[in-house]
Amino acid sequence: MCGIVGYTGPREAGPILIEGLRRLEYRGYDSAGIALVSEAGDLFVEKKAGKLANLQTAIADRTPSAAIGLAHTRWATHGRPNDLNAHPHQDCTGAITVIHNGIIENFRELRDGLEARGHTLTSETDTEAIAHLVEEAYAGDLADAVRAALRQCEGAYAIAVMHRGETDRLVGARQNVPLVVGLGDGEAFLASDVAAILAHTRRVLFLEEGDVVDLRPWGATITNVEGAPRERAETLVDWSPEAAEKGGYDHFMLKEIHEQPDALRQSLAGRVSTSGRIHAPEVAALTEAFRRVTRVELVACGTASYAALVGAAAIQDWTGLPARVTVGSEFRYSPPPLDENTLVIAVTQSGETADTIAPTRWAREQGCPIVAVTNTVGSAITREANAVMFLQAGPEIAVAASKTFVTQVTTLIVLAAAIAKARGSLGLEQELELGQALRALPEAAARALELAKDVPAMAERYLGARGFMFIGRGYTLPGALEGALKLKEVSYIHAEGYAAGELKHGPISLLDLECPLVAVATRSRVYDKLISNVMEGRARDARVIAVATEGDQGIGRIADDVVWVPETHEALSPVLAVIPLQLFAYYTAVARGNDVDQPRNLAKSVTVE
Ligand code: AGP
Repeated sequence: MCGIVGYTGPREAGPILIEGLRRLEYRGYDSAGIALVSEAGDLFVEKKAGKLANLQTAIADRTPSAAIGLAHTRWATHGRPNDLNAHPHQDCTGAITVIHNGIIENFRELRDGLEARGHTLTSETDTEAIAHLVEEAYAGDLADAVRAALRQCEGAYAIAVMHRGETDRLVGARQNVPLVVGLGDGEAFLASDVAAILAHTRRVLFLEEGDVVDLRPWGATITNVEGAPRERAETLVDWSPEAAEKGGYDHFMLKEIHEQPDALRQSLAGRVSTSGRIHAPEVAALTEAFRRVTRVELVACGTASYAALVGAAAIQDWTGLPARVTVGSEFRYSPPPLDENTLVIAVTQSGETADTIAPTRWAREQGCPIVAVTNTVGSAITREANAVMFLQAGPEIAVAASKTFVTQVTTLIVLAAAIAKARGSLGLEQELELGQALRALPEAAARALELAKDVPAMAERYLGARGFMFIGRGYTLPGALEGALKLKEVSYIHAEGYAAGELKHGPISLLDLECPLVAVATRSRVYDKLISNVMEGRARDARVIAVATEGDQGIGRIADDVVWVPETHEALSPVLAVIPLQLFAYYTAVARGNDVDQPRNLAKSVTVE
């Protein structure tokens, strides 16, 4: 997730763009860059790795006068976070400048084609390909050239483009990544979100999928990539700048919960083809190791360890290899037997969790092949691994993880499929079924959010509960564990996550009217067994909240409250089941007046053992 801002108008562009970037820095801060064009058509570009302050220092006292410009704050996906890969990017002639948020999935083919046709690409990014495609298509009209370039691009993007010879014109486009247009008095803006432009205007056009906007100081013309006109109504935004950073939500946690469809889309970009084939190019170099290993050990903490449980179950199911999860703090000092035939998978959002890094380093020293699954480019865990799969979920600000849980699950599922494919144990039919379910997942997550509209009222109804017991079985257990963790983290109410079949071996004694049972009862191979466990709880007067699959006719008879989620592949069910549980935790915490984004006693990244 990167931040984009553009300006065209009579005022000095430089300070407006830098201020816009400051508002967008929460979206990523691996590097920042700016491009300005003077009225005479002179181009100035500066970009620096690291936070915006580095760019500000670099341009202090030498920012040229300009009435048009683009600026970008980067959160690295393709290419290391260095000066070279920082945006903006140019074509061969230096006439065209592009900034981009998202991932161009077919960038390898595009770059190969461009190089074969004589272009010189200087960065490792997917974005630079766009600049050269626009260069090839340019015949005096920037909007036409951008549309022609985009017709060759697959993936998710928000882009902003300018041409040195068209000094009042910006062209923007959006596909599955946000981009807004700000309309001022004789000036216009493009930005990733309204936070960047709110100081200048409240008149906004929210672009929709496939929109291309041709922007001049006096107005905007919107088309699709084919050039057919589109209309977008102007919205008057009345958010405060602070609310705007949170996308209009009261808290980052709520924003990040609602970002999950987009986070899944970005995370899956390039990993599942339209036909449903599953790819994990990042681990291709480990194919031989995947064939050789005899065991798989996953190491992680907290939320990441629950996502790892889904990964372990999938690896075991699809390869027959023993696969298990050990929390980092146990793994380091009571390590399992490790050797070159043990694949170790370290799962960590931050990539900096000491309890996860120490055992991973230990495993590397024992000769284990290591895959890291992390959200953070350049983080410590990436230096311990032979291969890294990035979540591509964008920065997560709230301490309580949400979008990184769902993208950890999908990334591990893609990894599990890659291991099984390398070993020849995942048939084509099975792969395509899984691939299609992955492709449908972002939409299904959006629907799960819609279906959860009654959760705030439900949270109110259960506010007096003494504690909660969350249960699941098989693939639904990790969702129950994560639901319980979310609730205790942000609401400070005790919640336990338990294997449903274990209830009767002890914790059932906790159940009564004041201790409800939250059953993750989505469709699965062990659904009937789980329902029997729910009945055991019900017989002890526990009120029952069920998360169930749409169309489940019977569940209403045994649950006091049901929250529906769409049907999906069983291995992906925790992704959807967790959504209403995240919302339940959030609304319970809000009702109790807690600091939702920074709950007491917690830190986003725990760098001590
Ligand atoms: C999640 O809501 C928690 N904040 C916590 O359990 C977290 O998942 C854990 O500390 C691991 O962090 P990591 O993924 O950055 O390694």
